[in-house]
Amino acid sequence: MGPTAIATTTLSIPARRNEPLAPRTTFGIGGPSRLFIEPRTGSELHAALAEARRGGIPWFILGGGSNLLVPDAGYPGLTIHLGRMSRVRVEGDRIVAEAGAPLSAVLCAALRAGLSGLEPLAGIPGTVGGAVAMNAGTRSGETFDTIEWVTLVSPSGRCERVPAGRVPHAYRRAELSGRIVLDATFRLRPDDPAAIRDRITENLVLKRQAQPLAAKSAGCIFKNPPNDAAGRLIDRAGLKGLRVGDAEVSRVHANFIVNRANARAADVLYLIRRIQHEVRIASGVSLELEVKLPSLRADA
Ligand code: EPU
Repeated sequence: MGPTAIATTTLSIPARRNEPLAPRTTFGIGGPSRLFIEPRTGSELHAALAEARRGGIPWFILGGGSNLLVPDAGYPGLTIHLGRMSRVRVEGDRIVAEAGAPLSAVLCAALRAGLSGLEPLAGIPGTVGGAVAMNAGTRSGETFDTIEWVTLVSPSGRCERVPAGRVPHAYRRAELSGRIVLDATFRLRPDDPAAIRDRITENLVLKRQAQPLAAKSAGCIFKNPPNDAAGRLIDRAGLKGLRVGDAEVSRVHANFIVNRANARAADVLYLIRRIQHEVRIASGVSLELEVKLPSLRADA
């Protein structure tokens, strides 16, 4: 399975074929991607997008794979993994991190530099790009709380550094208008590293107590509805432990579906629909998915 090219016309970007995606997700579920690349720079990313556009090939950006359910049949287009665009640098009380950097690496850099503000994000898996794109967060804070700037690139190659205030965002949502995150600048506050470490530890302990962190999952499956918690509603509907194949509603936290061994995406999707149905009947609430499926966008 040597390098191949996205289109037969131009051979500018080496791509792998039939790359397994399951090991690149925290769920450990899903089939292969027809084509797979790992650009190292913004210009390589742009070249890949241009190539995909010319070939009418659908594409999606893969970050940490921690909030993703890949279909069993895999992905029929081009997966663009940003794992090689992962530099993190500290500049005074700011941290500039590329999209593919794990959020945990940014937290480590902040701790080493004695910079506070990211502690609420402790324990969130995934990458900076993913965290920005969905405004990842916890009950104590979210990604946009500390973001000052983001660099975004449109599929047509237009690159723009945008103040975070100009990116509409809400709970678990950021409106990027189809653009891809290249990097983010976090504005933090100097603080005692021991105090920062204590707050990180405290958040990790709470998370470990409440969530099935040792199991394969994609974190919370549903967004919390306004003024309530999806986990509470699913629990109250008596669905903890409900199982389809190897996919199970976690007995630890009802808003997690865990892959006990060899769950299929179809099992998870069935369980998702079943949960939505049961919760609608029990509480009248329609739960909205937080977990994403790879998009099939192809830019003309
Ligand atoms: N609850 C139950 N049963 C359960 C789980 C929860 O009754 O099985 C109740 C809890 O007792 C609590 C309420 O539901 O009263 C909320 O639960 P929790 O404090 O665990 O927080 P959450 O709203 O379920 C949110 C985020 C998590 C984040 C935690 C901690 C969402 C969808 N989830 O969970 O984020 O880690 O707060 O800050 O916003 C994620 O987004 O993937 C995620 C895990």
